[in-house]
Order: sequence, then structure tokens, then C-alpha cells
Amino acid sequence: MDYFNFKDGNLYAEDVKVEDLAKKYGTPLYIYSKATLERHYRAFEHALNRIPHLVCYSVKSNSNLAVLNLMAKLGAGFDVVSEGELRRVIAAGGDPKKTVFSGVGKTDDELEFALVNGIRCINAESSAEVEAIKRVAKRLGLKAPVALRINPDVDARTLPAISTGLKNNKFGIATDEAYELYLEMNKDPNLNVQGIDCHIGSQMTSSVPILEAADVIIPFYEKLLKAGIKIGHIDLGGGLGVTYDNELPPSPDDFFDGICERFKKLDCELYIEPGRAMVANAGILAAKVIYKKRNGEKRFLVTDGAMNDLIRPALYNAHMTIVNAKVRPQDEENCCDVVGPICESDDFLGKDRILAAEQGDILAVRGAGAYGSSMSSNYNSRRLSCELLVDGDKVSVIRRRQKFEEMWELENIPE
Ligand code: LLP
Repeated sequence: MDYFNFKDGNLYAEDVKVEDLAKKYGTPLYIYSKATLERHYRAFEHALNRIPHLVCYSVKSNSNLAVLNLMAKLGAGFDVVSEGELRRVIAAGGDPKKTVFSGVGKTDDELEFALVNGIRCINAESSAEVEAIKRVAKRLGLKAPVALRINPDVDARTLPAISTGLKNNKFGIATDEAYELYLEMNKDPNLNVQGIDCHIGSQMTSSVPILEAADVIIPFYEKLLKAGIKIGHIDLGGGLGVTYDNELPPSPDDFFDGICERFKKLDCELYIEPGRAMVANAGILAAKVIYKKRNGEKRFLVTDGAMNDLIRPALYNAHMTIVNAKVRPQDEENCCDVVGPICESDDFLGKDRILAAEQGDILAVRGAGAYGSSMSSNYNSRRLSCELLVDGDKVSVIRRRQKFEEMWELENIPE
């Protein structure tokens, strides 16, 4: 559920008309709803309230400081995958002590930054990374909090590009190898074994895969216990899907029900790392129709929003719902592709949509709060767009539109 609804034929973000925002702040424009973000966070807290837990919001899905600050105020921890993301968390008032650090390629510098800032746990993904953590921790004279990311060889049954828990993926460590590594890590003076980590994929629309993963991880946890290694937390990652089209993902309550039942029997905290389910439907991308055109049989709506603003359709052929912010009568005649101005045939926001629109109309791509702005770029020297946070009838600019000169201010023409 979100707070982008139609009233009298016009799309509203909470209490504000999307068309008015587009007029005032320009397009393309990301608009987020604060009430939706809060609602989603509370739904996760509610789902896990039966067991000791920590919700670590996955920063990569939407890393705007205002979003991170809101999450921190609600009590969230964070999941980061780079020094940049950890610096964002700190800049937004988040707590590194509630932050876990994931990713297959952490550098020594990144590990040092995380350790010096008191990271809660480093989720290591290879024996080579464990060596690096030991080396850095020894140099700093401290004990690094660590978990190993287990690759449980479970199919998340989602898009191949966002499946991460199969044994041939680059992620995690197989259980046999991980067991030997835990025995070694447990003896190391510079490591503090904290947890077991796992993340099998994104946009899951059923709880079956995550239960399958839990049924690999929990026996592994018990095996470590038997070997005298006490694990304080199990991190099951993110991955709960959202409705982009006609998917029917479970609610957080339903998604985590079986997990909570299993955890009730363990003396172990549960961490989760939700990204998409927290922010996707809390955001839209508003774009203006610049031209209508027709080539042969094909109709196009050319908008000022493009693949540099929102790359999910082009990159994954992902379907995202597009609506006109002003309701217009429509029929099959209105079937069209919604495309951007970028010089690539894959620059589209939607294909074969029944969508009536006139030049100047504002379209809204729904579900754009996650992996939208955070994956945007300057391709075709297009500026990063403006981002707004709406709270009732209050509107805050949480990122102003980039200035043209800012796109080349790092560049230099040699003498
Ligand atoms: N934890 C780890 C270790 C992850 O790799 C991810 C996402 C998450 C948590 C958050 O997963 P979520 O709850 O958002 O599913 N750009 C793609 C999605 C990539 C997901 C990468 N990892 C997209 O736009 O669909």
C-alpha cells in the first residue's frame, strides 16, 4: 500500500497534486512519500516483533540522505556495500554500530574505514577477504566483528540478474568451506565471530526460497554450536518483492512467519536487510511528454525521463507501471512505447502500454523509489534529477537538480 492515489482524476503524492509538483520543480522528478516509507518500516518491525531482531535497511536501494535519516529516526540499522554507502549512513545520522557491511570486493581501505568507525559486523564473502580483515584488524590493534556470507545454493526464483544464492554465483561461500573457515576464525585473536549471513536474491514473490535458505543456515548454525562456536545473529538478507505489475508478494508478516517460528526456538537474533520492499512503492518518477510520434505501426510517447534516470526497464526488461497523472479516456488505439531522449533503442520506460497522453502531460512511473535514483547516471550528459519528499501537504527538496557545470567540474583540459 502506498500514498500515491487518484482524486478527481488527478494523481496525488499524499496531499499534493503530482502535476503541480512537476510544474514547480521541473521534470524528470523523483517524488517520495514519507507516510509510505514509515508504513513500510513499521510493517517490517511488526513482522519481527515476536523475536529479537534488527532491521538493516539496504542503502543501495535508495541512498538519499533524507531517506537514510528517516530510517535512522525510525530505529533502523543499515546494510552497506561500500565505504561511500557507510559514509552516507554516518552523514545522515545513522549508527555504524547498527550497520552491517556486505559485498564481495571490500578493499583494505574500506575495511579500515568500517572498523575504525565501529561497524557492527563485516559480512565476509571469501577466505581471501577473511585474510584481509585479519590483516587490517591486526594493524589497527582491534578485533573485527565478522560473519561469513553462506551461499546456500537455493534458487530465489527471480530474475537471473538479481539471483545471488546459487552455487555458481559470485556471492558467498559454500557451507563446507565456511565450516572450516569458522573453526579457523574462532581461534584468531583479531576476529570476533558474530554471525552467519546470507542473501539469496531480490524481488522474491514467495516465502518458499527464504525458508529453504533458513533450512540450510539453521542446521549450519547448530553445527557451529556443537563445535563450540556461539553465533549471536543470523542475517537472512533482503529480497522481499513488491507489486510492479500483477505480482502478489506476501506481506512482511506472511513472508517472515515461518522464519519467526524457527527463530523462536533459537538463542539467536535475526537480522534482515530489506531494500526494495521498503522504498519501491514509496516513490514515483514523474516525466513530461515532450512529443508524440509514430513510426510505421508503432506509436511513441517521448518523455524527458530516460534510462539514465531509471535504468531498470532497459537493464532488466523490468516492467514498471506507468500512469498519466491526469486521467484520460483510453482504448487500444493508445497502445505505445514510452521512451526517453537517449540515443539507444533500449532507452525506454515501458513498452506496449495502453496509455492516453497529450504533449505536456505528466506521466508517473510507479515503484520507482527503489533502484531508481540510486542507479541513475549522467549518460548523454543529462543532469541527475531533483528528488522531493512529501509529508502530507509539506514538500521538501531532498536533492536539487544537478547544475550543468557540476557534470564536468571533476574534469580537466590538459595544457
Ligand atoms: N542485502 C544484500 C547483500 C543485497 O545484495 C541486496 C540487494 C539487499 C540486501 C537488498 O535486497 P532487496 O530487499 O532490495 O531485494 N538493481 C536491482 C536489484 C539488485 C539487488 C542487489 N542486492 C533491481 O533494480 O531490481
